[in-house]
Amino acid sequence: MLVNDKHLTTIWYDKAREVVKIIDQRLLPFELKIVELKTLEDFCFAIKEMQVRGAPLIGVTAAYGMYVASKTTKNFSELEKAGDSLKSTRPTAVNLSWAVDKIITKIKDMEKSNFQEIILSIANEIRDQDIVNCKTIGENGSKLIENIYKKTQKKVNVLTHCNAGWLAAVDWGTALAPIFIANQKKIPIHVWIDETRPRNQGFSLTAWELMHEKIENSLIVDNVGGHLMQNGMIDLCITGTDRTSLNGDVCNKIGTYLKALAAKDNDIPFYVAAPISSIDFNIKNGVKEIPIEERDPDEVSIIEGIDENNNRKKIKIIPEGSNCKNYAFDITPAKYITKLITEKGVVDSNEESISGLKN
Ligand code: MRU
Repeated sequence: MLVNDKHLTTIWYDKAREVVKIIDQRLLPFELKIVELKTLEDFCFAIKEMQVRGAPLIGVTAAYGMYVASKTTKNFSELEKAGDSLKSTRPTAVNLSWAVDKIITKIKDMEKSNFQEIILSIANEIRDQDIVNCKTIGENGSKLIENIYKKTQKKVNVLTHCNAGWLAAVDWGTALAPIFIANQKKIPIHVWIDETRPRNQGFSLTAWELMHEKIENSLIVDNVGGHLMQNGMIDLCITGTDRTSLNGDVCNKIGTYLKALAAKDNDIPFYVAAPISSIDFNIKNGVKEIPIEERDPDEVSIIEGIDENNNRKKIKIIPEGSNCKNYAFDITPAKYITKLITEKGVVDSNEESISGLKN
């Protein structure tokens, strides 16, 4: 998508320099910095510390991490270990193990000498396919927005949570892709952006993306959504997913569940944009089985921003000695999800429909 009217993606392989380049998302929205990832450690750090984040993007990053690891590993078992290191960086988004396992399965029976180029081409393929899938999700989801507009003939108000835009994928994104496409179709649209504490991906990333695409938006703190829904100020919600189980439960950024409850109570459609790479066909019951990442409590107790001199600052906001817990994701049970928007179409969030998406 666009940054200062120029097209940019979140990750790419620079053939000339033979390195992988990413945007360091920890610095947005105040600084746009491209960094190079050169070693397996660089890749693990980038995912764990959230230089890259968002389910599809961490899958693509892990795939390139496997390529870089294959340059120094001596045999298949060493490469498998590198895959385990990548998988252990973040536990919730299934795209990470999906990408690593795709590579492992493909090269299992090959000679070491053949590894590298094949892994690079799989990583490039995963990246390119992600762009196509996200754009298709955008086209499928934009029709839902268009239908509302056709009925009301009024600006469509969408609520989104966290960042499931192009910064969470390679390009287009998942939950924001229908919004980008609807905007290109000239459907009048306004987006309510949840702050998304503790890391504020809504404010720092989603707002930045929409501003560069010139899409009208308003920033709200996480507890506002219910009030807006009660007062007819939201027409639909669209969020992303880090892992969707076979029964249609959706795991996404902490706070998603509460928005889905409020949407149900107010009869507002709650859509989840779900690329098939984020569906875990091995997990039957999301509420019981999806692992929830717990992150450093410092993310809760310390907020970060810039001061009046544009210097980055960290500020502590809790009493000394307080105990913080930092659960990064929650599960929205399938019964609260109106439909899943996938690259294969808009489907019910239940086992029958989800099984039909496999392969
Ligand atoms: O912790 P993050 O920033 O990786 O969490 C991102 C989200 O929760 C997104 O909504 C999710 O990955 C779906 S993204 C396309």
